[in-house]
Amino acid sequence: MNNLPNIVYLNGSYLPVEEAQISVMDRGFLFGDSVYEVVPVFGNNLLRVDEHLTRLQNSLNRVSMVNPLNSKEWAEIFSQLLNKNQGEDRAIYLQVSRGAYPVRDLSIKENYPATVFAMILQVTPPDMEVVSAGISVITVDDFRWHACDIKSTSLIANVMLKQQARVANVEDAILIRKGMVTEGTASNVFLVKDGIILTPPTVHATGNQLLLPGITRDLVIEIAEKNTIVVQQREIKETELYSADEIWMTSSTREIAPVIRLNGEAVGVGMDAGVAGEMWKRVMDLYQQHKLLLRSSNEQ
Ligand SMILES: Cc1ncc(COP(=O)(O)O)c(C=O)c1O
Repeated sequence: MNNLPNIVYLNGSYLPVEEAQISVMDRGFLFGDSVYEVVPVFGNNLLRVDEHLTRLQNSLNRVSMVNPLNSKEWAEIFSQLLNKNQGEDRAIYLQVSRGAYPVRDLSIKENYPATVFAMILQVTPPDMEVVSAGISVITVDDFRWHACDIKSTSLIANVMLKQQARVANVEDAILIRKGMVTEGTASNVFLVKDGIILTPPTVHATGNQLLLPGITRDLVIEIAEKNTIVVQQREIKETELYSADEIWMTSSTREIAPVIRLNGEAVGVGMDAGVAGEMWKRVMDLYQQHKLLLRSSNEQ
C-alpha cells in the first residue's frame, strides 16, 4: 500500500485516490482516447519539465485535443501535488482524456471538457548493485502503428509485447520492425560499438514515427556529447544487436539499464560479454551526477 498515491488531482479538485472517480463514458476508458506524461522528481525538482510539457503538447496536437491548461496551471498542480504527497524520489503521472460524451461514438465533438488527472508516484531510487547486474531481453516483432511519437494511453500493444517478455522469463523486449530496431516496450534503445553510442532516429526515413522521443534518450545524448563521446542517431539493423559491445534501455523511471543477455546470448564480446560495459558505467555515472545537481538546485 506504501506505493499508492494518496492525494490526486482530478478536474480541478485534490482528493484521496479512493474518492477520485470518472464516468464510465470517459473516452479514455472506452477508447484509450487520452495521452499522458511521466515527469521524474528528485528532491523537489522536476527533471526536464519543459520538455515533458512540450511532448505533451505534441501528443495533444497529434490527436486534435486542446491543452486544457497552460504551463503555469500545470506547474501549480505539480507543486500542490508534491506538497500533498511528500517523498524523496517521485514522479508525476498526468493524463488528459477527451472527456465523457453522452453516447459511445468514435467521432470527435467539440464542447466536451477534457478529463484531467494527475498523481504522484513514489519511486524507489535505483540500487546500483541491482542496476549494474543488468537485464535480459528478447527481440519481438514491433506490430504497433506509425504514430509512436504520441504518448497515448492506448498501450495494449505494449502490454502484449511486455507479456511476451514475461512468458520468456526475461525483463523486457527490444522491438524490431522490418529488421530494424525501434525501441523497448516502455523505453528507448542504445547500442555501443567501438566507442561510439548509437540510437535510432526519432523520425524514420519514411517520415513515420516509429518510436517515442524519450526525454531520457535526449538527456543521455546531451550528457554524452558534452563529455566528447560520439553519438550517432541512425537506423540500426537487428543484426547489429548481436555484434554490439553494449546495449542499454532508457526511460524516466528506469534511467539507463544495461542489457546483458539478448535472446539467451551474452551481450558484448570477449571477457566483457554478459556484464554491464565500461561506456554504460561512464554515462550512468554522468547521469547520476546530473541528478545530484538537480536534487540540490533550487530551480524547478
Ligand atoms: C514506448 C516508450 N518509449 C520510450 C520511453 C522513454 O521515454 P522517457 O525517457 O521520456 O521516459 C517510454 C516511456 O514511458 C515509452 O513508453
